Amino acid sequence: MAKTIHEFTPPYLILLSIILSMTATTTAKESESFGSILSPAKLGLKREKLSHLHFYFHDIVSGRNPTAVPVAKASMTNTSSSFFGSVMMMDDPLTVKPELSSKRVGSAQGIYASASQKDIGLLMVMNFVFTEGKYNGSNLSVLGRNAAFLGMREMPIVGGSGVFRFARGYAQARTHTVDFETGDAIVEYNVYVFHY
Ligand SMILES: *[C@@H]1O[C@H](CO)[C@@H](O)[C@H](O)[C@H]1NC(C)=O
Ligand SMILES: *[C@@H]1O[C@H](CO)[C@@H](O)[C@H](O)[C@H]1NC(C)=O
Ligand SMILES: *[C@@H]1O[C@H](CO)[C@@H](O)[C@H](O)[C@H]1NC(C)=O
Repeated sequence: MAKTIHEFTPPYLILLSIILSMTATTTAKESESFGSILSPAKLGLKREKLSHLHFYFHDIVSGRNPTAVPVAKASMTNTSSSFFGSVMMMDDPLTVKPELSSKRVGSAQGIYASASQKDIGLLMVMNFVFTEGKYNGSNLSVLGRNAAFLGMREMPIVGGSGVFRFARGYAQARTHTVDFETGDAIVEYNVYVFHY
């Protein structure tokens, strides 16, 4: 009959080895963990507030200094009047009044792409980059669908940085003017956002 090792080992050594193995397991668990629960106060977060931002977005596709340029279009399809497959990159000015010459508050930087085969339905992926007042240096991220020919469109605000950390909310867009000859458009934005 085989004898187990325990029969030859003094009991205090067995206890010691059990304690050592437990410590080793705990240490390993601690060093592998990469997440922990934090109280909001530790990040300096106090009360969430709701802000309303109002500005005009200038999408200039014509002339010598366009702010939105085509970067891709579908080559295989000639089916739709919805420009399905076309992709634009923009760095559009944001101003306080409908006039481009009015005070600039930031830019809308990102992509809009025709994602609908039947109607005008743009996929908007953009950051509002603010350069004025208390929002200077802070950004908001928008990801949504923009049926650009409808009266009022709504797009989710999915996050933000700077004063807009933890941001969530929505942006309402309404076309102010559009020049059907050049394609240039001015869009009024009302943004409602929760942040700290
Ligand atoms: C696209 O399709 C229409 C209708 O089928 C045709 O008249 C037109 O010439 C086509 N355009 C191109 C660029 O192929
Ligand atoms: C915005 O912040 C930048 C960088 O801190 C600064 O250079 C600029 O003058 C600020 N603009 C306004 C309008 O406060
Ligand atoms: C917001 O975007 C601007 C422009 O890209 C950048 O300079 C700035 O650091 C961003 N702000 C934050 C808080 O990340």
